[in-house]
Amino acid sequence: MCGIVGYLGQNQAYPYLIEGLKSLEYRGYDSAGVALMNGSLRVFKKQGKVRNLEAFVDGKNLSGNAGIGHTRWATHGEPSDQNAHPHTTQKGSLALIHNGIIENYETLRKELISRGHVFESETDTEVLIHLIEEIQINNHCMLEKAVQLALQRVEGAYAIIVMSKDDPEKLVAARKSSPLVVGMGDNEYFIASDTMAMGQHVNRVVYLDDEQIAICRSTKEIEIKTIEDIPVTPYIEEFDSNLSILDKQGFEHFMLKEIYEQPKSIRNGLRGRITPDGEIHLKGILEHAERFCEAKRIIIVSCGTSWHAGLVGEYLIEKYAKVPVEVEYASEFRYRDPLITDEDVVIAISQSGETADTLAALEIAKEKGAFTFGICNVVGSSIARVTDAGIYTKAGNEIGVASTKAFTSQMTVLTMMALQMGKIKGTIERAELRDRVKELDRLPDLIKQALSGDKITHLIGDLFAQASNFLYLGRGVNFPIALEGALKLKEISYIHAEGYPAAEMKHGPIALIDENMPVVVIANSKENYEKVVSNIQEVKARNGKVIAIIETDDRDIFKLADAVIEVPKCSELLTPFLSVIPLQLLSYHIANKLGKDVDQPRNLAKSVTVE
Ligand code: M6R
Repeated sequence: MCGIVGYLGQNQAYPYLIEGLKSLEYRGYDSAGVALMNGSLRVFKKQGKVRNLEAFVDGKNLSGNAGIGHTRWATHGEPSDQNAHPHTTQKGSLALIHNGIIENYETLRKELISRGHVFESETDTEVLIHLIEEIQINNHCMLEKAVQLALQRVEGAYAIIVMSKDDPEKLVAARKSSPLVVGMGDNEYFIASDTMAMGQHVNRVVYLDDEQIAICRSTKEIEIKTIEDIPVTPYIEEFDSNLSILDKQGFEHFMLKEIYEQPKSIRNGLRGRITPDGEIHLKGILEHAERFCEAKRIIIVSCGTSWHAGLVGEYLIEKYAKVPVEVEYASEFRYRDPLITDEDVVIAISQSGETADTLAALEIAKEKGAFTFGICNVVGSSIARVTDAGIYTKAGNEIGVASTKAFTSQMTVLTMMALQMGKIKGTIERAELRDRVKELDRLPDLIKQALSGDKITHLIGDLFAQASNFLYLGRGVNFPIALEGALKLKEISYIHAEGYPAAEMKHGPIALIDENMPVVVIANSKENYEKVVSNIQEVKARNGKVIAIIETDDRDIFKLADAVIEVPKCSELLTPFLSVIPLQLLSYHIANKLGKDVDQPRNLAKSVTVE
């Protein structure tokens, strides 16, 4: 996690750094800091969000044409001014910011202490700046050489930017397993964890690869080498800086805006891949048709909300393409010596494309010869780049830490994949395929209708906001939606919530039900409808409070439940898309009513680049 940003050019660095940090706060918001170069190196850092830093520097001299900035998600050492980045050396001539974890920092720290170094923070990062300084002094070398030599000694993950008082016209950046992109304008450089932090003057970008170092000098072209000093020809891509504009567009929070954007984000994901008259053309699958058709097994690896999308994918791929699918938490998969062969296809699902566990799971899959496929939202992200092939979800920037539109876009891609595979393998009838694709084409309009029920959801959210626990129940393809509804509520409202397959309730969770327990039942699906009605009755018999997601005009459940939220009638295939909309809204309204920080909930970060 953590967001890093650097500027070098003809303009004042501070305004770019602070704006960049604001757009990177989704990566962590425990502390923020900047270092500015103007003859000397000045460092300002403060615990808490970027706005605390802004208040702290108010009235201070912030001039300088070069600078670096950091927003932190704490790993080593509590959130505090002391542990905030940038870190500097004892002599105050170098400053460094870091995203990642230096795994062998204990060993390096002991070594450095034995040679007289004094540490000021509890962070793993500080060892790196001491090491760079020591190497530079001992070898009388340039900053970039010292960075290369220091990084050769580091185990773990890093994206760093270093600046030196003695070499003020230069920024040195490097990465391994943490994202870093260098943006270029006219005689100016913007370096950041994400293109969202790039200023509006950037027109070209270079994504660094693992173990590469970029040397940016104010009047020269970018130079890239490996940390072993092998020169690399930079792959420079055109960049449209308008895409990085962040705006809530009148909504109170990014999360609400993103929930409302779903008709559009889903439409973007479908565009060019299906036609209204029922044709499907998913390039990512067609180009690798053989691998998918001959796959003995598909394994989906992911985390959090993306894992829930994977579970939906499992139902759909098994149903339409008749390939066995396993869905694994990437963090478990990577540590359990999984049985993978070159006949397997491993699909990684990730909004950010940077999740450390998912990346590590992919590495194992690759080592074992599997064909790897990425479903990512962030273009050019690490997962998108390390996989053999993939499909972008095209949901657009997702800023709210709680994932909403990225989830429905992941489900959209997985639905198209299942149908495309079924078509190639001949496991789905032509007529059925046409009908399913036509339904998919109607999905954005149905989502729009589901969003129109927001007023009721808001009222229900206000009514139940004081509950301490929630249970979410769903069956079949809507079971993962129950998990997702519970996760959404926990992460932004801090209310304890559990998702269960409805039939599992009687095997344990039913013991929790009393008049204080709201139970959210997903009941808009016709598969197992009668059984879901029985589950509702079981809850009611124990005085539980039922909030049911139902199809429009379902009078039976309307009479049974304490509260209902109606979603439009649709085929079974689309029910998870429609049931998740009120669940996203419900958690949003509850969290908002409780006065929580909806977009940046405590302890979380959008991009989990540590394991
Ligand atoms: O970027 P990814 O999709 O790989 O992220 C995975 C999870 O960290 C993420 O889905 C997390 O659970 C969200 N905060 C959920 O809203």
